[in-house]
Amino acid sequence: MIIAGNWKMNFDMESAQTFIDQIVQYPNWKSTVILCVPYPLIYPLSTLISKPHLYMGAQNCHDKLSGAYTGEVSSTLLSSVGCEYVILGHSERREYFHETDKLVYQKILSALNSGLKPIYCCGENLQERENNTYISTIQQQLEQSILLLSSEQIQNIAIAYEPVWAIGTGHTASSDQAQEVHRFIRQQLTDKYGVFIGQKIPLLYGGSCNPKNANDLFSMPDIDGGLIGGASLKVEDFISLIQIADKVK
Ligand code: PGA
Repeated sequence: MIIAGNWKMNFDMESAQTFIDQIVQYPNWKSTVILCVPYPLIYPLSTLISKPHLYMGAQNCHDKLSGAYTGEVSSTLLSSVGCEYVILGHSERREYFHETDKLVYQKILSALNSGLKPIYCCGENLQERENNTYISTIQQQLEQSILLLSSEQIQNIAIAYEPVWAIGTGHTASSDQAQEVHRFIRQQLTDKYGVFIGQKIPLLYGGSCNPKNANDLFSMPDIDGGLIGGASLKVEDFISLIQIADKVK
């Protein structure tokens, strides 16, 4: 199981350090735990997290490896400061920064070239859910990005299904709704890469996942963990989610 926290644009150095101090004191867990934090926190926190199964992640990177792109951060730099994962294609980046599937694909290639593992996000908006077109939305997102990768590349990817209507809203997808889409994504992967690889790729659910609903979600056969926003900011909730993940699978 994977529990990835997405801190978004929250915390400063002091509050981040308090969070880490608490989490490293907790007894060892078996799930993979990733903290996707704002850029300036990656290096200092990476020096504090000497704990098995705990990794640093970023929330974005540029698609080029270096160059005159004022204000941007490359995957090469991330990799050199202790970052191992990067969230790409998050719906907030797609909405507020107009990131297209094409750009997200370029960023995935850049991240893989630098040795980072992308956590690729996909998901439909409320209208697509209500119009019952959500499966074709997801299919299109996959076809324009991760399904273009080679068998070797895809094995370094995790996919997060994050229905946009569930992110930060308190409206979680039901475990059956999430499982339906996860099953579909799994099928796409096995059709393209075969059962052996398709079964191995971690599929995370994201969108108002918290200690109350995690047990039901994580118990579903094609859900391999969660991408956690709000509940990753409260250390007690985040630890509960790790405990649930460890218990369920
Ligand atoms: P949320 O965010 O858990 O606050 O809904 C999830 C995400 O945006 O990754």
